[in-house]
Amino acid sequence: MGAPVSRLFEPDVVTLRAGTADRLGADGYLPLPGLITADGLALLRREAAGLEALARRRDFAMACMDDSPRHMTTLGGQIIAEASKAIPALYRDPGLLDVVSRAAGEPVSEVDDPVERHVLNILHRAGDTHGAHTDDHPYALVLFLEAPHDPADGGLVHFLPHAVSLRDLDSVDDARTAHHRPGDAYLLRSDTTAHRVTPLTRPGLRRTVLNFAYTTPAARPLHTDSAAELYT
Ligand SMILES: [Fe+2]
Repeated sequence: MGAPVSRLFEPDVVTLRAGTADRLGADGYLPLPGLITADGLALLRREAAGLEALARRRDFAMACMDDSPRHMTTLGGQIIAEASKAIPALYRDPGLLDVVSRAAGEPVSEVDDPVERHVLNILHRAGDTHGAHTDDHPYALVLFLEAPHDPADGGLVHFLPHAVSLRDLDSVDDARTAHHRPGDAYLLRSDTTAHRVTPLTRPGLRRTVLNFAYTTPAARPLHTDSAAELYT
């Protein structure tokens, strides 16, 4: 493990400006550049490299999400919990929960589902993509371990807040894309923001993220088949 878990991230990355939570509410997305420290990035990359041998390749269209494509390698939380100490510890770290709660503007807590709570998503072939969907839980904290340096190479998060239909991602002008570097993170209002990852454009590129799902006391989680299809 090495450094204590609190050194893996920068707790003051969320400057408590008035309107931070309002911005997340309006945009569905809040960038958290530099959330992961250099030590944290090194440790999480080592963890992910070890876990990748346990991960499974997925190539299918997800019926419950308008047949959007999945071309990626994934590992569910139930296996991560058995194989990694650092990732589950970071997921439930009170300091990280405080960062997410401050960014969200409301107290967040762990989700009960052992599969969805913390997952590893790896895009590593030309054309790899995590197609359009919404999540079952209200908040997703996405931590970047690897990402294409050039936004033109793909791997961008493409999102539309308050989406009525997943198809609106491709037809509504308000949809945006965002590029991130390793060590960056973002918080997404993930149950109402349609989102996807744009395809990697060529061989040799990699995009590896940890996705931490959080909930709130008032949330009523959706129960789609999406997590079971992608992570079990
Ligand atoms: Fe998602």
